[in-house]
Amino acid sequence: KLQEQLIITVLGASGDLAKKLVYPALWDAYRFDSLPEDTRILGYARSKLSHEDLVERFKPQLKVNGDDDEKKRDSFLESLDYIHGQYDEAKSFKKLNEHIESMSQAKTVNRMFYIALPPSVYKDVTEQLSNHCQAKSGFTRVVVEKPFGKDLESYQDLNAHMSNLFAEDQIYRIDHYLGKEMVQNLLALRFANRVFEPSWNRHHVACVMLTMKEDFGTQGRGGYFDEFGIIRDVMQNHLLQMLTLCAMEKPVSTGPDDIRDEKTKVLRCIKPLKIEDTVLGQFVGNPEGESEESRKGYTDEEDVPNDSNTPTFATAVFHIENDRWEGVPFIIRCGKALNEKKAELRVQFRSVPADIFGNSTRNELVLRVQPDEAIYLKVLVKEPGASSEVAQTDLDLSYKCRFGEQRIPSAYERLIVSAIKGNSANFVRSDELEQAWRIFTPILHDIDAGKVKPKTYKFGSRGPSEADDLVKKHNFSYAAYE
Ligand code: BG6
Repeated sequence: KLQEQLIITVLGASGDLAKKLVYPALWDAYRFDSLPEDTRILGYARSKLSHEDLVERFKPQLKVNGDDDEKKRDSFLESLDYIHGQYDEAKSFKKLNEHIESMSQAKTVNRMFYIALPPSVYKDVTEQLSNHCQAKSGFTRVVVEKPFGKDLESYQDLNAHMSNLFAEDQIYRIDHYLGKEMVQNLLALRFANRVFEPSWNRHHVACVMLTMKEDFGTQGRGGYFDEFGIIRDVMQNHLLQMLTLCAMEKPVSTGPDDIRDEKTKVLRCIKPLKIEDTVLGQFVGNPEGESEESRKGYTDEEDVPNDSNTPTFATAVFHIENDRWEGVPFIIRCGKALNEKKAELRVQFRSVPADIFGNSTRNELVLRVQPDEAIYLKVLVKEPGASSEVAQTDLDLSYKCRFGEQRIPSAYERLIVSAIKGNSANFVRSDELEQAWRIFTPILHDIDAGKVKPKTYKFGSRGPSEADDLVKKHNFSYAAYE
């Protein structure tokens, strides 16, 4: 008999998230030997799918590199199990439990449930899992995906429900940006180096800007997106998480709770976002656009009402009221249907006092999350040769140059493996989320009530020009930019 086994159940196995992200991440974890040896994967959803259906669905999504990988992929696909059932019926979950028991062959059988389902069924599913599917020996963990509510109140309601069913250390709330290499790097960069810390404060930093741009629309997710909008989709979570890691104090250790204590603390110092500190936008089609997609506006997308008030773009300025940051604007810009796809963090330092070179271009530290992970520091050096002018150049750490072709696991793979190991440092704790909702709830209610109207911007542009004006007003200098 085996000593220990892990059974991962993916709920919503027939859905898009499972197909595009969860199963490919499980496959990568399997092919690079990051899953515990005796791991079984079970899919669960309402549709009746045969084993052939599963293979047909997942195979094209699983990347391979060479013949050995292909053989490995075949055995991975072969080992996948699946059963169908309802999301709100005790009978179905009892059946799921029996199925898991029939797969169990070890003294200790750990169970991980990955809930890849829309919010409308969260409550039912978690209740059924808690009642019928907890492990008899070994751990039971649930991995949940955003959205975690729509505002502070609905989050508190969901959280009260979840915490009645599971202990906090059984719940792994995914924010996949916390699984990205460069986001994880923020802590190392800040706290493993001596050079940055002394200037990482209001005395030396002029402003901080976080950007997440996408060059596509809602890609068939119009119905979901219209209910949530860009603030709930990426700003309240992915970007706020990056801001928090950039602004928090040094944690006592790298332990999950020490990190999350500091994150929560800095969030508590942020005042709720005000309308005057934001510019919202909604994209319209660009008649000159090259692709068919770019000629369509947001309200032309499927499942989006013609009079939708939902922002697809937002720029917002946050004020952190503590000793380190008072007076330093933290600016977040994000949006769909923009001119490029990129995510980055820029820390702009103040110009040197009493400049003797006549060039007050600021130093800027850039952490590029994607594409092409990189960290570079913009500095001024003397121009080579006879000139005595100074010119801007980069101290550049591009990951590809420094670390060659070393594989960077996907955010999902990394987070799933962390959850299996029980490391929750890169998952969102309930009190952090409560703070995140507190910051955004007033403005979200104003948007929902139609009190704020998004400005229009063309598909493929940089967003509404008012956003640039806001950014400039808050001390961001484009001179340091490329
Ligand atoms: C998701 C959002 O959380 O993140 C999407 O719901 C967005 O709208 C996606 O496109 C971006 O993730 P990534 O990893 O591609 O930057």
